[in-house]
Amino acid sequence: MEFVLKILSIFRYESLFFQDVVNGHDIVSWGAVDRSRPEGQSDELIGFVTARIVLAKESEIVDILGYDSSKSDQTLIYILTLGVVETYRNHGIASSLIREVIKYASGISTCRAIYLHVISYNNPAIYLYKKMSFKCVRRLQGFYLINGQQYDSYLFMYYVNVGRSPCSPL
Ligand SMILES: CC(C)(COP(=O)(O)OP(=O)(O)OC[C@H]1O[C@@H](n2cnc3c(N)ncnc32)[C@H](O)[C@@H]1OP(=O)(O)O)[C@@H](O)C(=O)NCCC(=O)NCCS
Repeated sequence: MEFVLKILSIFRYESLFFQDVVNGHDIVSWGAVDRSRPEGQSDELIGFVTARIVLAKESEIVDILGYDSSKSDQTLIYILTLGVVETYRNHGIASSLIREVIKYASGISTCRAIYLHVISYNNPAIYLYKKMSFKCVRRLQGFYLINGQQYDSYLFMYYVNVGRSPCSPL
């Protein structure tokens, strides 16, 4: 868990967040490890993505989804966090983790889309999501409060199953 905290050091999360990730219902996570590392280190996480399954009708993007949102079983995958250890970046690890999330979401028949927030100045992440065919659908002013300072966020979306997204990176 210490290593995961290091990956995510861009933001400070409450310990409750990590308890939720480990024990929480409707939370799915994927980790990447480097099998070529020496014995004893090869199971340390070098990348991590965690996501929550949410009901579409209860989500903040229910108005964006172009379908009958009153259907109670429609779901979405919300990416809570994604991180790759600095020395392992730009090797396609985050892309692979995102592909796993897309694969997982596509396998859930009720799932309509994947969405996430990214802080407006995080260019590597914004580049990544665009590369993976996520669409920026909203800018939320003052979404993040970090050290007393407000920052905007972008909301990115990727449609699955009945989705509108014309091409899939898979
Ligand atoms: C964003 C992050 C997850 C990307 O991980 P990664 O494993 O390096 O991602 P990938 O290797 O799959 O893809 C990175 C792409 O971004 C590009 N990139 C890297 N730095 C960039 C920058 N400053 N500006 C624009 N693009 C950049 C790379 O060239 C690469 O593109 P390519 O495949 O076309 O060459 C990683 O930088 C990270 O952990 N950052 C800190 C945590 C974070 O910001 N998480 C996202 C929160 S929403």
